[in-house]
This record gives sequence, structure tokens and C-alpha cells, in this order.
Amino acid sequence: MIVQEHVSLKPYNSFGLDVNACYFCELQERRDIALLQERKVFDTESYLIIGEGNNILFTKDFEGYVIHNQLRGIEIIEETTDTISLKVAAGEDWHAFVLYCCEKEWYGIENLAYIPSTVGAAPVQNIGAYGTEIKNTVTTVEAYHIPTREFVTLTQEQCKFGYRTSVFKDCAKQYIILSVTFQLSKIPQLNTTYKDINEALRALDSQSTKALDVANVVTQIRKRKLPEPSELGSAGSFFKNPVVSKARYESLKNQYPAIISYSQENDVKLAAGWLIEQCGWKGYRQGEVGVYDKQSLILVNYGHATGQDILALARKITASVQQKFEIDLQTEVNIL
Ligand code: EPU
Repeated sequence: MIVQEHVSLKPYNSFGLDVNACYFCELQERRDIALLQERKVFDTESYLIIGEGNNILFTKDFEGYVIHNQLRGIEIIEETTDTISLKVAAGEDWHAFVLYCCEKEWYGIENLAYIPSTVGAAPVQNIGAYGTEIKNTVTTVEAYHIPTREFVTLTQEQCKFGYRTSVFKDCAKQYIILSVTFQLSKIPQLNTTYKDINEALRALDSQSTKALDVANVVTQIRKRKLPEPSELGSAGSFFKNPVVSKARYESLKNQYPAIISYSQENDVKLAAGWLIEQCGWKGYRQGEVGVYDKQSLILVNYGHATGQDILALARKITASVQQKFEIDLQTEVNIL
């Protein structure tokens, strides 16, 4: 394993921010972990494990080790007539893995097509879209637990998945995810309740909808709504959709009858994109930063923004949503 010094992180963060890492290395084999240990990397606080850097906002240079997880491999570990279990190394590309499964007609992750991520980064924030979350198909996650210096296997329950969170996000810096095991269905099981998906599939007019049809439709929707990472820097949704009590929702609904919400078991999730749009931010641009014109949840770098510029805009948005709706938006993106 080669440890490089003063490496630009521009290719390693989807905002395209021009910051440097003091040290940078690629994790290509499990035994590289022993080498990092020998260098006493884990004895300091300043290390960061990244996949593709799709959910990070660097506000300054990183004064430590950036470890780029590049572990590769997909292995079938169990197969029955109805299900298939696959162990996938953390550095595999998420969308490529989704397509691989869809082409084989294995069901369960087709709604999560075209999410920019690696397989190892996906459980950290329990990626989700169009009514599906990764937690629905994850059975175990294999990781290196830094505090105990042990290799561990966490069950789905131990991963403590929640809306855009998990034990890996709560205890950032404690785990290096090595592989994720998924159980997928060989029997067609689709979730096409989301309106846009449903309409696009009906337009296809096919006799039997396959996983790949859904993945293709989701890809088209995402391409329409979200910026292409290679063209415009962003980190997908910058904020989480806020969750409020039913009572609070009723009072907001009285005041703003058009408010967009999703009823949950005990509370109500609000569409943060709608709240932000109501505050007049959609399509806003100041210099090198802005709010995407097709989705207000997404902050964009027009080319030469700094992380501080993006953070300043995020703070203005948070303050205006607080002032208008008395709702405290939380960031989904990891701010460093
Ligand atoms: N909306 C507006 N104005 C906007 C944006 C959205 O009125 O500027 C409205 C939409 O019209 C829609 C509702 O808000 O009625 C929800 O919008 P959308 O379907 O685009 O989904 P979202 O809640 O904004 C979430 C995820 C996305 C995921 C989509 C689709 C979060 C934080 N974001 O966004 O995930 O792709 O649902 O399921 O939960 C990501 O996490 O990076 C991400 C892109």
C-alpha cells in the first residue's frame, strides 16, 4: 500500500471541492488494514474512510489520512429456489451492482438504481429512494471495528438502520465496512407505489415488468430530477426530510394547505424540498453556489465554490426555513 502526501481530493468528493488530504491511500486488500495499524493511523483521530465521497462537504483541507476503500468482489454465498444471498465488497460501485442483480432478475434493490455510491457507503446512511431503503435487503455487514481492532459481522439489527442513518453514521470513525451481504428475491417483487415510477411503467406497456424495467425507469427519473455528478457538483439531498408530530403537522397544514407530507406510524415526514422552495430558494444562485433548479434539496457547486461557500448558503436556507415554518432542518451530508 502506497501512502501519498498532499493529495488533491477533488476527484474524491462529488461536490468537486478543491481541498487536499495530508495523507492518502487506497485500501485494496484486507491486509492493508494491518499496515495502517502499523503506521498507528488508528491511534489518531484524524482519519477518514471514503467510498466515492458522495455525501461529504469538505470545508477545509483534511489534516490526516484519507483512506479510499477499493475492496472488490461479488460472491454468491447461498441460493434457494426463492432467494439469493450475495456478499459484496465495499469498494464495488453501487449502481453497477444494482444492474448486475437486475439483469439476473434478482429483486429488491431495483428502486435504488443510479444512486451515486459505493456498496460500502450505502449502509452508512441507509440509502433510500422511491419507497425502498437498503436496510430491507441487507442481512449482515462485515467491518473492521477500530476501537477493539477486531473484524466483526453485524446483523441487520445491530446496524441500527433508521431514516438516512445507521450505527456506522452514529459511530463514525469506528468502523471500516469491508463487505455487505444482501438477500434478494428470485421471485418478482416490485414496489411501484411511487407515482412517477408507476406512470413511467404504465407508459412502457409491457406484459410483465422486470427488475431491470424498474431500474431503467428510476434511472430516467433521477437523471431528470437530479444533477449529473460528472457535470455539476452536488451531494444529492443536502438536508433530511424533517419529521414532526401529527399535532404539529395539523397546525402547519392549516396554515399551508399545500404542504407535502408523508404519514408515518407515529409522526409525519415533510418534504424539505417543498419547504425550501416556499422560502424562495429554488434555482437561486450566488456566484459559484446555488440551489438546484429542479430540486431545492440539492445544493450545487457551479465550479469554483469552496466548502465554506456551500456551508454559508446551507445556513441561510436553514435560517429561512426556521423563520417561516419554525422547523430546524438537519443536514444529510457529512460536514467536515
Ligand atoms: N418538492 C418540491 N420542491 C422541490 C423539491 C421537491 O415541491 O424543490 C416536492 C416534490 O414535488 C415532491 C416532494 O417534494 O412532491 C418530494 O420530492 P422528491 O420526490 O424529489 O423526494 P425528496 O423527498 O425531496 C427523497 C430523498 C432522495 C430520493 C427521493 C426519491 C431524502 C433526504 N431525499 O427526496 O434521496 O431520491 O426522495 O425517493 O430523503 C439523497 O438522499 O441524496 C436523495 C437524492
